[in-house]
Amino acid sequence: MLLPDSRTLIVERGNKKVYDLGDKIAKVFNGTKPVSDVFNEVLNLSRVNETGIASPKVLEVSEVAGEGWGILTEKVPGVTLAEKMAEDPSRFYEYLERFVDLQIDVHRHRSPLLPRQRDKYSRMINGLEELNATQRYNLLERLDGMERHHRVCHGDFNPTNVIVSEDGSLSICDWAHATQGSPAADAAMTFLLFALTDKQQAQAYLELYSERADEPIQVVRKWTSIVAASELARKRPDQDKEFLLGWIDVFDYQ
Ligand SMILES: Nc1ncnc2c1ncn2[C@@H]1O[C@H](COP(=O)(O)OP(=O)(O)O)[C@@H](O)[C@H]1O
Ligand SMILES: [Mg+2]
Repeated sequence: MLLPDSRTLIVERGNKKVYDLGDKIAKVFNGTKPVSDVFNEVLNLSRVNETGIASPKVLEVSEVAGEGWGILTEKVPGVTLAEKMAEDPSRFYEYLERFVDLQIDVHRHRSPLLPRQRDKYSRMINGLEELNATQRYNLLERLDGMERHHRVCHGDFNPTNVIVSEDGSLSICDWAHATQGSPAADAAMTFLLFALTDKQQAQAYLELYSERADEPIQVVRKWTSIVAASELARKRPDQDKEFLLGWIDVFDYQ
């Protein structure tokens, strides 16, 4: 893949850069990113494309000279829902309603070949250094007791991953963490992502999700400890780690 000089950088994070190429988007990873992770993201995205969920189409996966592996997708012209929410805070709740309905719509879909959420959580919990064997056992038992579902879950559903087109239609990007599993677990992840920056927004999200999805808040809450623990396995800043540890209520077994 050749990146044109006219490209503009949208975001730069630890191991990747996302470029706007005009009518396409290139997500380019540096050498520290395992190639298999890049292909996994593309495989997830192509499976999601095939379900009919509004998502950018995969165009190409290849090495970018001097950088690393890159994923080329269609560009969805528009702005993110996060930008909309920040631009006009008085409309936050209105946008939140659309956000929640979109997530519930994703959960209506199935994609039997996506990775299984339960396998992913148990793998991540098993690999945690922050918890001892007893705490990990307790969480894995809790995971085992949760009702089984096989719905498409985004895994990182937050307003920065929702693009609002000029005609108001919504599209979802960033399917790196997609799995098939329990919608309530996906909602727990979204709740945690909101709570990392704004507790009130997180609470508003949780209440609205519970009402619209007809899902008891208690079920989402049970998933929150499991999801927080699995998220600990990712490299995050120390303050986020403290926050996630606070949501894992298995410390009485220490
Ligand atoms: N296909 C796309 N069309 C339009 N904008 C996109 C597209 N893909 C990504 N973006 C923009 O780039 C940002 C980062 O891309 P994303 O895939 O979410 O990367 P990250 O994994 O770093 O969050 C998104 O928040 C969005 O603003
Ligand atoms: Mg993203």
